Amino acid sequence: AVADLFRRIVYDWYVPQRRELPWRETFDPYAILVSEIMLQQTQVERVREKYATFLAEFPDLRALAAAPLERVLAAWQGLGYNRRAVNLKRCAEAVVASLGGEVPADPNELVRLPGIGTYTSRAVVVFAFNTPLPFIETNIRSVYIHHFFADQSGIHDRDLMPLIEQTLDRDNPREWYYALMDYGSHLKRLHGNPSRRSSHHTRQTPFKGSNREVRSRILRA
Ligand code: ADE
Repeated sequence: AVADLFRRIVYDWYVPQRRELPWRETFDPYAILVSEIMLQQTQVERVREKYATFLAEFPDLRALAAAPLERVLAAWQGLGYNRRAVNLKRCAEAVVASLGGEVPADPNELVRLPGIGTYTSRAVVVFAFNTPLPFIETNIRSVYIHHFFADQSGIHDRDLMPLIEQTLDRDNPREWYYALMDYGSHLKRLHGNPSRRSSHHTRQTPFKGSNREVRSRILRA
């Protein structure tokens, strides 16, 4: 089916160049939450430099909740957008106070915490619990637009979410999303950001026909 072929393309690109990133070596929900907050607005290489020392100083939610804010902000130095650090500490306090100190495995609970939006709540649950949930971020968006839309302009996330759901690797969602993120980042380096590209630069995809047709093809697959 189209979904199998698509997954094969993504994994064939990803597997030989898979990177070891520290937050991809852990299943600790707290460590994954910290990484997702850092990665929201900071480059991977910069996060890599700061991640281990942050976790060494605040090894779990209780440590973070109990720490003085000034120490958290000091450890956040170099990552920027300090409001994220303030919110992360407030998250830790809320989880310790009312969720028994455990990061919830339910995105609907996570999304109610400070600084956690739809993307972060789902990414944390996928990466920490290997739960097959659809979510989108900028690199994932690039992959789906590149592969499934002939006219790559004016595509909304509500057009992409059904495709993400239909093509999700339910056997290993965690690895699948790493592959999508890295492949999307690679596509952007090759072609630029498709959502920003004007229509006269539109490239031909293997799928011809209108976006509506393309979408119904993949949904039937
Ligand atoms: N690698 C790059 N960005 C990432 C993210 N947001 N989550 C997990 N791994 C990543």
